[in-house]
Amino acid sequence: MKTENTVWHEQHISKEQRASLKKQQPCLLWYTGLSGSGKSTVANAVDALLFKLGCHSYLLDGDNVRHGLNGDLGFSDEARIENIRRISEVSKLFLDAGLIVSTAFISPFAQDRASARAKLESGEFIEVYIDTPINVCEQRDPKGLYKKARAGEIKDFTGIDSTYDVPNNPEIHVKTAEQSIQACAEQIVSYLAEQGFISIETTNSNNI
Ligand code: ADX
Repeated sequence: MKTENTVWHEQHISKEQRASLKKQQPCLLWYTGLSGSGKSTVANAVDALLFKLGCHSYLLDGDNVRHGLNGDLGFSDEARIENIRRISEVSKLFLDAGLIVSTAFISPFAQDRASARAKLESGEFIEVYIDTPINVCEQRDPKGLYKKARAGEIKDFTGIDSTYDVPNNPEIHVKTAEQSIQACAEQIVSYLAEQGFISIETTNSNNI
């Protein structure tokens, strides 16, 4: 618990210095979408493109983070809120390290995504809505979880018996049912280049 005796300690090396060493502008690509929508797949493809371009990035993925840092959290509304709170704090630290961060979590509640945005500097938070219709997610069902949820074996499943707030005004809107993973990834990397977060010789997607 933070008290009046908890005092912030300034560090010698600033976020700007760390970022300039990496020749990039730190930002947070906040992927949101249903289970099976393709968040992790697209985020991984973007991360690979960024790596190829010589950018310094890191991807925090829901399923993986729930194996460690958030291994104590389930899927009640309260647990999801805490999941997203911790991730937004960790992301903020990674941004401070000068990185381009991606988070791939369902993050179903608009209010929690807004809180994550509010923790960062203006323009740093980039909401990426992975917009895949639930029937497509359910057809894909890569982990067999929709089947279990329909059979009543999993409770509080997003889109079935737990809410998903569709983003109102995401910075990037991606439709995985209509274009390839590579095209989705290029759409996102092009956005980063256009907004000046990264510099690549040309933003022509053929050259990404
Ligand atoms: S979030 O809602 O708290 O943001 P998060 O992205 O961390 O969710 O985890 C979602 C992943 O956990 C899904 O991709 C799925 O593999 C798994 N999962 C297990 N139970 C559930 C559930 N009840 N609802 C949604 N996803 C679940």
